[in-house]
Amino acid sequence: MAARLSLTSSPSSVTAANTRLDSPPITTSRLSFSSPLRSSPIISQSHYPFIHRNKSVIRLARGNYSSTVSSPKCFASNIDQLKSAREDIKQLLESTFCHPILVRLGWHDAGTFNKNIEEWPQRGGANGSLRFEIEQKHAANAGLVNAVKLLQPIKDKYPGVTYADLFQLASATAVEEAGGPKIPMKYGRVDASGPEQCPEEGRLPDAGPPSPAAHLRDVFYRMGLNDKEIVALSGAHTLGRSRPERSGWGKPETKYTKDGPGAPGGQSWTAQWLKFDNSYFKDIKERRDADLLVLPTDAVLFEDPAFKVYAEKYAEDQKAFFEDYAEAHAKLSNGGAKFDPPEGFSLDAPRGPVPEKFSAAKYSSGKRELSDAMKEKIRAEYQAVGGSPDKPLQSNYFLNIMIVIAVLAILTSLLGN
Ligand code: HEM
Repeated sequence: MAARLSLTSSPSSVTAANTRLDSPPITTSRLSFSSPLRSSPIISQSHYPFIHRNKSVIRLARGNYSSTVSSPKCFASNIDQLKSAREDIKQLLESTFCHPILVRLGWHDAGTFNKNIEEWPQRGGANGSLRFEIEQKHAANAGLVNAVKLLQPIKDKYPGVTYADLFQLASATAVEEAGGPKIPMKYGRVDASGPEQCPEEGRLPDAGPPSPAAHLRDVFYRMGLNDKEIVALSGAHTLGRSRPERSGWGKPETKYTKDGPGAPGGQSWTAQWLKFDNSYFKDIKERRDADLLVLPTDAVLFEDPAFKVYAEKYAEDQKAFFEDYAEAHAKLSNGGAKFDPPEGFSLDAPRGPVPEKFSAAKYSSGKRELSDAMKEKIRAEYQAVGGSPDKPLQSNYFLNIMIVIAVLAILTSLLGN
């Protein structure tokens, strides 16, 4: 079990941590770390000091973004900029392996939600308030200033994206890029406007409270989350490490962390701590390796009878874990946030009118599907006369025949005269 040094980091230790970016350069040898991430270029420390590498990532992506592209409506965040920011985040992840700290950033911005407070932003939730120094100095947030620093160039590049959305986008993208489930995210979160709108310290959970189960329920029920969601969300510790100089928890380094990737050191919950899978639950259950971390709030997931049902299930069934995690992550990310538009919007839903389902084939013999080219031709012909492939033209054949007969009769009588 990890020794708890001090939960409230001293200002000096926070500052020390803050001066170090989360993921210093990696060397070629570190790339032997097994992860599901897309193959990354081999980066050598001597060639790419971290900060420069990070900047170059942003510069590379700059060419892709066109400020002339704009959303049809003016929401809290611009949808096109959000999509471009997502691509930049993917590049940042690929080059710095900062998945865990971005997930923690999103969680700590959102996890201040108090459902018993009606007013926004007093009720907390994802509102970007973690960009302010006063909140970064809360003991629970030690080290997260580094995550904000990593995202700041992306924020500068896409000013039409709110911090609140950017933090949540980064977190969901990190989970997905690490091999986790697709999170059904929505966007349009409004930012808290100043440090005076930051929540008071103490809303996030403590890793070693006297009664871990009761403490987790106190904190997460306050966010409107239930036992299943507490267990599923705890599974995010499949990623990342705990660092004694930040939270006071974990070993300075282990065989799994001494070589990075990213900044070496800390103690991880799982062996492959950049891979999002269900190994967190398996490892806590088995306790097979003293190099893997188990916080009191992790251990209780297999001790409390109600939590245990889910923890056992997730250890057995990764698909069930992924489904429940994705749902709980989205719920956490939305709780307390103020959306503009109020219903939020998705980055993945099709924009503009959804093309009508092509059903001209129903007029064919039914034995053979029409080729796409043929469908297009038929569609164009229908549309040229104001029709649509799935409904017959608005014509009255009987009336047409009567008109033709009448015209013929008139012509005959005229010619007869
Ligand atoms: C259940 C209550 C929780 C407690 C008590 C807790 C506590 C902690 C602690 C002490 C650390 C180490 C921080 C450090 O030293 O840098 C940590 C890291 C982390 N936590 Fe949690 N956490 C909890 C829930 C969550 C949830 C709900 C998520 C996400 C949905 C999450 C995601 C993470 C991640 C990804 C890291 C690794 C960060 C890194 O490697 O930089 N945690 N957590």
